[in-house]
Amino acid sequence: MNELKERITHHIEELSKYTATPGYGTTRLSYSQEDLKARNYLKEQMEASGLTVREDGFGNIFGKLEGTVKDTPSILIGSHFDSVPNGGAYDGPAGVVAALEVAQLFHKKQLKPKYPLEVVALVEEEGSRFGGGLMGSRGMTGLLSEEEFKSLTDKDGISTIEAMKKIGLDPSLPKKRDRETIKAFLELHIEQGPILEEKNIPIGVVEAIVGLTQYKVTVEGQAGHAGTTPMDRRADALFAASKIICQLPELAIKEGNGTVLTVGRLNVYPNGANVIPDKVEFTVDIRSGKEEHVQNVISNLKKTLENHNEYGIEITAEQCLYIQPKALDQGVRTLFKEISNELGVPYCSINSGAGHDAMVFSDVTEVGMLFIPSKAGLSHCPEEWSDAGHIAQAVEIFFEAAKKLTEVERDAPSKNKRLNQSV
Ligand code: GLV
Ligand code: MN
Ligand code: MN
Repeated sequence: MNELKERITHHIEELSKYTATPGYGTTRLSYSQEDLKARNYLKEQMEASGLTVREDGFGNIFGKLEGTVKDTPSILIGSHFDSVPNGGAYDGPAGVVAALEVAQLFHKKQLKPKYPLEVVALVEEEGSRFGGGLMGSRGMTGLLSEEEFKSLTDKDGISTIEAMKKIGLDPSLPKKRDRETIKAFLELHIEQGPILEEKNIPIGVVEAIVGLTQYKVTVEGQAGHAGTTPMDRRADALFAASKIICQLPELAIKEGNGTVLTVGRLNVYPNGANVIPDKVEFTVDIRSGKEEHVQNVISNLKKTLENHNEYGIEITAEQCLYIQPKALDQGVRTLFKEISNELGVPYCSINSGAGHDAMVFSDVTEVGMLFIPSKAGLSHCPEEWSDAGHIAQAVEIFFEAAKKLTEVERDAPSKNKRLNQSV
């Protein structure tokens, strides 16, 4: 356990070095130089565990341990390795590192699975560079078309294809993965909230993930001189956007039932202190455990936008992401709980308020997800921290689950007697 904990700590520390904002948290945008360095590290680690490494046409990374039976679907384990701006070292990487260590245990014990085991490291889950989010998982499962992918640009107008090529990735590689090649997807993630820490429980078995949508709202007006344009002759995009944004929290509060709304990104153009802004873009992220609440807030958002169509101002709203709430696979949840009992690891059931690649995979395969505690419930900030010991406990649960799901043929000694009999 100590060796496992040390390996996990080392991986997390190494990956956290690949940030565009040293000293100010992890900023690792998809297809950036930091992505390239983290990608090279992950590929090396996969190879060191005897995995065959490949990338797809989105830059998702796969490290595969072949199964003994040809053409059987894989058990995928992993998460994403991009970050939000000035985020933490664990959101995403904790799950990739856990997957690496499951593969390392297979390697060390020379296990021969019947079904392949694949470690996956996914791109652009956060949507921090190209918007929307869950891009790697949506792309590979066919929920994001080639045209949509190609049309995405970052805030500087650089397209996905240009950005990929810049770090030597090949967007012409196969993109969509046949559903028949996936048997299950397992993801470990930090909780990003306070529940597990408050309960002092190391493992949360995720029952369901919230439904969410993201809109990009664009408010356009007329640029002009800040000193010479009278106040009653202005079409100021920033003032118009501010009036709208001030009304939005109320939409979620009125809806209640845990519905939340966030305006997290605001771009002002041309962004000069003495220029009246002619364009403002902002994002609206709406989430709830029940789809009807998301739908109600969407329709109230649209009404709010219509009410602000004032003189000289034009408002458009584009939906960048819509995902229904997802219940995760009952069978895998039960498996996790049985294994936790056998290993003597305390757990509880939990729901996720954050979006995850797991919710995308739940449309195409059996999905299981575990959470570990987040210190002070903090995430998406440099203070984000989780205990490597908790990641190690999750690795042990995933290792037993992976042995069972891949139907390991020659097993190593384990304290889990009942599972040994069944593999
Ligand atoms: C990802 O962190 C999300 O919940 O948006
Ligand atoms: Mn995140
Ligand atoms: Mn995440």
